[in-house]
Amino acid sequence: MADTSNPSPQPVSFAAIVVAAGKGLRAGGERPKQFCEWRGKPLIRHSVETLADAGSNPILVVLASDTQDLAERALAGIEGVKFVQGGRTRQQSVANGLEALREQAPQTVLIHDAARPDLPQSVIDRLLGALSAHSGAIPVLPVVDSLAIAQEDGTMGGKAEREVLRRVQTPQAFRYAEILSAHKNWAGEPDAGDDAQVLAQKGGAIALVQGDERLKKVTFAEDFVTAQQAQFRIGQGFDVHRLIEGEELWLCGVQIPHDKGLSGHSDADVALHAITDAVLGGIGDGDIGTHFPPSDPQWRGARSAQFLEHAVKLADEAGYALGNIDLTIICEAPKIGPHRSSMREAVSAMTGLSTDAISIKATTTERLGFTGRGEGIAAQAIVSLSAIRP
Ligand code: CTP
Ligand code: MG
Repeated sequence: MADTSNPSPQPVSFAAIVVAAGKGLRAGGERPKQFCEWRGKPLIRHSVETLADAGSNPILVVLASDTQDLAERALAGIEGVKFVQGGRTRQQSVANGLEALREQAPQTVLIHDAARPDLPQSVIDRLLGALSAHSGAIPVLPVVDSLAIAQEDGTMGGKAEREVLRRVQTPQAFRYAEILSAHKNWAGEPDAGDDAQVLAQKGGAIALVQGDERLKKVTFAEDFVTAQQAQFRIGQGFDVHRLIEGEELWLCGVQIPHDKGLSGHSDADVALHAITDAVLGGIGDGDIGTHFPPSDPQWRGARSAQFLEHAVKLADEAGYALGNIDLTIICEAPKIGPHRSSMREAVSAMTGLSTDAISIKATTTERLGFTGRGEGIAAQAIVSLSAIRP
């Protein structure tokens, strides 16, 4: 039977300009913020992917001349992306982007800050919808706090009416010919706050559509940390070693007097092995055997402290810091209580955590099973990790 259902509506075709020629001075960092990792990929890639998925073609990415390599890597494989040389101010960068679209002369253009990675499709839909009756459309949010006008001497000079004020975001949508001419003839401040101000000066009617808190501009180094805190991780580890006569007993890097000790390839510190595996688990980087294979003679009798220290270093390289450790040692004997404090000190020295972030607990298994019969000691650990840098 023929398909008689309505064809899906044709998506509106539009071009996009993503300005990314800033230096990101307030965020600091080794490279401009738009090329730093943010929630698993380069900051700029987030909004450029969304614009590509929304049907934008082309997507002109406006760049400082020395960042072409960074941009090519950050945006590899996204269709429709083209690069344009930026200007000294944001306004000049946008003007360059608009100039570069002259030949294609699209009907509609969206202008967006690369520094606003989280771009909801719903905002794009509202902007394009409002453009049919206006020269421009911008996403705005209400001001929720009351406002004060600051005087130069640091005292309050009066209050502003928040009811008529709005916070302005990007992307901003325009009819191409009108915004091109407004930017070309811009004679205001060298750095216009945003493109709507440029058009407003020419008298264009600009619709205010509902913005979205997710469009927040990443500006300061803390903004990266806040984003990464969502990337909180946990890892768990478990280990068992056999108790035999004639061996030393090491737990958490502390030698404990006992009539038996743990047997194993290294010093068999079952507690440190559990913590090490928890750290490796948290960063998804194999386990203790992957990094220190028992078949490798160099680890015979090795101090397990170096395994944990290495795991902490790997976590740091992966961008994570330990938050806390919770360890349970499972054995009938020896008693752990008298050694707890020196064990916490030792683990603190290996990990850099303060002792109050290191919990060492012990339990028996009521004489049941291999631990109950004193044949071995088991240990299990959980660690938390959080991202430490952009
Ligand atoms: N931008 C640009 N060209 C400039 C200045 C800024 O394309 N000459 C872009 C930035 O890359 C950013 C957006 O405009 O995507 C908003 O600017 P802002 O958040 O101020 O970024 P930076 O100027 O890079 O940061 P800072 O002001 O802290 O140096
Ligand atoms: Mg700036």
